[in-house]
Amino acid sequence: MPKQGKDYIVFPLDFASVKDAREYVKLLDGKVGTFKIGLELFIDQGPSVVEMVKNLSRAKVFLDLKLHDISTTVQRAMERVANLGVDFVTVHCSSSIAMLEKAVKAGQGKTQILGVTLLTDNDADTLKSAGFKDKFVKDPHLLVMERAKMAFESGCSGVVCSGKEVAKIKKEFGKSFFAVTPGIRPEWSILENDDQKRITTPGQAITLGSDLLVIGRPIRDAADPSEAAQKVIKEIEASL
Ligand code: C5P
Repeated sequence: MPKQGKDYIVFPLDFASVKDAREYVKLLDGKVGTFKIGLELFIDQGPSVVEMVKNLSRAKVFLDLKLHDISTTVQRAMERVANLGVDFVTVHCSSSIAMLEKAVKAGQGKTQILGVTLLTDNDADTLKSAGFKDKFVKDPHLLVMERAKMAFESGCSGVVCSGKEVAKIKKEFGKSFFAVTPGIRPEWSILENDDQKRITTPGQAITLGSDLLVIGRPIRDAADPSEAAQKVIKEIEASL
């Protein structure tokens, strides 16, 4: 079946309580393609939260663990993750190619590995103090591209990147290499103290070639989350 508008939406279950997470899974089942479970909920609830999502919904499950350790440890962790039956897991691209390759192998094709290129709270100052070469301090996008290359060469299914980087990544590594973009803000969403800086609208992200759009607060904090998801679906479908 061709991909529908809802299939592009990843809704992060960024909740402190499993009760709230469960409510939103019920509310948004059939309106989003993927539910993302982050560290907050996974550390609190463990694998049972994956079961909860799978029992209540037909959506895919994205476990945002952002793994980063010596390659053997990541491999062993990934072997456990593959048994959970999740569709996507994140692994940092900031270590060795071997770490990424072992993660991909341990995913056994059942769990797709998405590389985290550069966390969005990094900037020239943090890169400089972490000892990065001047060329990366001056242009962090170069680092994103280096790390996307590592992810591509080690067999990852794609990367997490900003909407602004999608076109370049697609051009370099091809259409089938997944671009997952957070920082999505529909024009109608008004959020107080929004911490996302480099934002794109759902329509722009689709036009740029993004495969999965992580959209949290514009849906979660809307007066009617279900209606907000429906509006995002419409905007995505208009841009396909
Ligand atoms: O749409 P909203 O800003 O609420 O989405 C927040 C979600 O996006 C969180 O789950 C966060 O982990 C994820 N995320 C992000 N920035 C990145 C990568 C992921 O905000 N660079």
